[in-house]
Amino acid sequence: MLKKIDYGDVIEFKAARTIFNQPLYFCHFFFIDGLLIDTGFAHVSAEVLEAVKKLPVEKVLITHQHEDHTGNCALLQRELNVPVYAHPETIKVLRNPPNLEIYRKLMWGNPPPAEPLPVKKQYKMNHYIIESIYAPGHSIDHTCYFEPQNRYLFCGDLYLGEKLTGFMIGENIADHFKSLEYIISLKPTVLFCGLKGRLDNAESRLRRKYAAWWDIGCRVKKLYDAKVSRNQIMKEIFGGEIYFYYFSQHNWGRRYMVDSIIENIEIFNQPTKISL
Ligand SMILES: [Fe+2]
Repeated sequence: MLKKIDYGDVIEFKAARTIFNQPLYFCHFFFIDGLLIDTGFAHVSAEVLEAVKKLPVEKVLITHQHEDHTGNCALLQRELNVPVYAHPETIKVLRNPPNLEIYRKLMWGNPPPAEPLPVKKQYKMNHYIIESIYAPGHSIDHTCYFEPQNRYLFCGDLYLGEKLTGFMIGENIADHFKSLEYIISLKPTVLFCGLKGRLDNAESRLRRKYAAWWDIGCRVKKLYDAKVSRNQIMKEIFGGEIYFYYFSQHNWGRRYMVDSIIENIEIFNQPTKISL
């Protein structure tokens, strides 16, 4: 399923794998001023190509390596004859895409290998300048794109929501906080989120997310300092591990968030750098 929502200067594409016509999980990508930001996933490739070839796409920018954002890089590069730009760590993954866990193959599909170019600092388009902002945390290569005139932030999977209580393997809480601190300092007005699409009140949303995670970090630290085990910490703070941990073949879970907090426990000795 692919839906197109026209916001005037930005077009949003909302893609989902469906079962019995019911969408399972939404993934969004966007078009602004000649730039396509992310590409959706491989299972919707025919719909993506059909929709995107009607637009004056000049370049494709990628936020990060995950297959729900990169699944159509190779296709669009070939069929639209446009360059694709990505962080060097994203390029490494796209050259040799990993064999994904079953749930990821079912939901989104394996991206075919692609050969993007290294992302540039900025893109001067007809109406807007779009700046690349390296913002790791969700993944090592995570890059946001910022339009300073309207203060639009194309944030990939930086935001996702304010109540998230789990990480994929490899997410880093210290990087998340640093990225959020810098992004919040830009005072973005609108988020274009990979999971939730266009969202107003961008800065307040990011502040609330930061505050919620900081609160979790402080609670974990208190228990960790009292020599409480990781499993008990998860139980006391979240009520235990989430079922998705097992469905995801141990790829996503609350334990990874707790582990990352413990690995970076010293940051919670300081007062928070962001207020609501
Ligand atoms: Fe992601």
